[in-house]
Amino acid sequence: MHSIYARINNISALLSTSLMCLLGAIAVSSYFFTADPKGLLDVSSIQVFPGNARRYVNKNQDFAFVNFNVSADLTPLFNWNTKQLFLYLSAEYTNPQGIRNDVVIWDKIVRRKEDANIDIAGRNKYVFREPSSSFKNIPPAHYTLKYNVMPYVGVLTYGEAARTKEPVAFPESRDLS
Ligand SMILES: *[C@@H]1O[C@H](CO)[C@@H](O)[C@H](O)[C@H]1NC(C)=O
Repeated sequence: MHSIYARINNISALLSTSLMCLLGAIAVSSYFFTADPKGLLDVSSIQVFPGNARRYVNKNQDFAFVNFNVSADLTPLFNWNTKQLFLYLSAEYTNPQGIRNDVVIWDKIVRRKEDANIDIAGRNKYVFREPSSSFKNIPPAHYTLKYNVMPYVGVLTYGEAARTKEPVAFPESRDLS
């Protein structure tokens, strides 16, 4: 009896060691399989409107609406160990107080390689406002498309797939009244 248990124990230890080695090999091999796809990102228009946030804070708050189009072939990011891609578009600028902002305004999950050659015209999904409440003295912002590759095994990898060629200025706030 004792020897059967001991043998099962040994076999399962061997199997789990082999499994760990296999998973490790997959993680390491896909780590060395690095693709760095580059696409194009354009901001076609930005509008700034004064919003009324007085209900929450005692001041007006500007809201920016960004129309963009982006094209990028991200299919090289799909390998044997890619579960899905998380894409996000962010606005990067340094405000006059010297604080660097990186605001995510849109995102998307791509689950299949067939959907990874993207060509999208869109508008920010998430509210885009400035902590100082106004975009008036905010310098032009760069917009970037970044990705996280979520693997089946191993660690997340990050990259940047596209960036606006020139920083884009915020227009003056339009009063709707
Ligand atoms: C975005 O759209 C404009 C106007 O339709 C076009 O000229 C430009 O090439 C597009 N850019 C990208 C990255 O798709």
